[in-house]
Amino acid sequence: MSDHPTVADAPMGAAPTTDTGTGSATAAGTEPLRRRARAALETARARTTLLTDCLDDAGLTAQHSPLMSPLVWDLAHIGNQEEIWLVRAAGGRPALRPELDPLYDAFQHPRAERPALPLLTPEQARNYTAEVRTHALDVLDDLARAGRSGDPLLEGGFVFGMIAQHEQQHDETMLATHQLRQGPPVLHAPAPPAAPPDADALPREVLVPGGPFTMGTSDDPWALDNERPAHTVDVPAFWLDTTPVTNAQYQEFISDGGYRQPHWWSPQGWEHCRQAGLEAPLFWQRDGDGWLRHRFGRTEPVPGEEPVVHVSWYEADAYARWAGRRLPTEAEWEKAARHDSAKGLTRRYPWGDDDPQPQHANLGQRHLQPAPAGSHPDGAAPCGARQLLGDVWEWTSTDFTGYPGFTAFPYREYSEVFFDGGYKVLRGGSFGTDPVACRATFRNWDYPIRRQIFSGLRTARDPDGD
Ligand code: AVJ
Ligand code: FE
Repeated sequence: MSDHPTVADAPMGAAPTTDTGTGSATAAGTEPLRRRARAALETARARTTLLTDCLDDAGLTAQHSPLMSPLVWDLAHIGNQEEIWLVRAAGGRPALRPELDPLYDAFQHPRAERPALPLLTPEQARNYTAEVRTHALDVLDDLARAGRSGDPLLEGGFVFGMIAQHEQQHDETMLATHQLRQGPPVLHAPAPPAAPPDADALPREVLVPGGPFTMGTSDDPWALDNERPAHTVDVPAFWLDTTPVTNAQYQEFISDGGYRQPHWWSPQGWEHCRQAGLEAPLFWQRDGDGWLRHRFGRTEPVPGEEPVVHVSWYEADAYARWAGRRLPTEAEWEKAARHDSAKGLTRRYPWGDDDPQPQHANLGQRHLQPAPAGSHPDGAAPCGARQLLGDVWEWTSTDFTGYPGFTAFPYREYSEVFFDGGYKVLRGGSFGTDPVACRATFRNWDYPIRRQIFSGLRTARDPDGD
């Protein structure tokens, strides 16, 4: 496979930690920050190129699913957001292509309508995003030379981190579009390593001690508005699965009639299950007594030891009830992922404050599938849980809302307009999430019926009564 490009060799870019020169100089004004911002933008662009250069124009302009945009829309939207925030807002420069704004405004056109728009052609979209990038890097260099203090958009290089994360989020969305696409494989990556020797001997669940912890962040420079501000939450003790739920575990739910018995489901979930005719995760098909799955153009037996992926919140919730358990709350998930109860400290990542490396977590599209359950002992949290970051997004029981003291920044349409009770929070990132858009405070959200995303789960339970 070495003749195929992968993103495996790309630098593991991550947001700056709080000690990376964010002090009084502000405003993307220090050399480490400038380099970090540039590297994050370049890492994102390398991945965007990988995801779009592998298809011909027909593959880029087609709509592979009504749930998704044509890939060429994502491509130009990435450039348009970069123009709006880096060239115009941060750089104070005149607009390059203001007439494109309405076409690539996600709120003016639902995904299903985007193929009918007079979109840029693939060549035009590539040229536009490249032109924007040239100007954006100029802006970055100017700011690094001159600085500009007191602007919260620039503090700690925030807006550059925001745009790198935005591009990476669309790259993950484009990866999901690739998964929905019909046709022979065009993406290639090595399989993740086998699980470590201790994987089979791991306890099924770990205890997270009760007590207060710090949820969210106020000082992580590239944290997005919905992760802020830091606040104390008292979380009683609970048990959490050591690893995400596997395909083998999920198959037991299926063979036990899980999809046919309403009592495992919430009322709305059952209604949806029946209407949509659900009987297994998305991309599974029956094969005699077993199951096959379709993945990025290949069909293969469902690997039992791998975390289940492509389940909706309704399925995750039903599975947990069938297992005699429940989904964790969002606060429980974050506490498990970052609180060191012995030291009373809250970490940035489950393993500590160091930037993610390949041994910590399966992130960044280095592989095109989750790693087997029990992988990544080096990425374990203080409570002993593994794979909290990477592999699969994990559904929580919590509706997406703002934390106490939330302020929309820098635009309401990133988070606030989704605080309407219709979305469930997912945590932890998937194999398709880049490290720059993944940390223990990062929040994702989607409708409870959605499952084209790389979504799985782990379950929780209250301690036995005492
Ligand atoms: C955070 C993944 C839900 O894709 O809708 C991209 C990210 N926001 N452009 C989405 C996002 C604006 C967002 N999610
Ligand atoms: Fe976007």
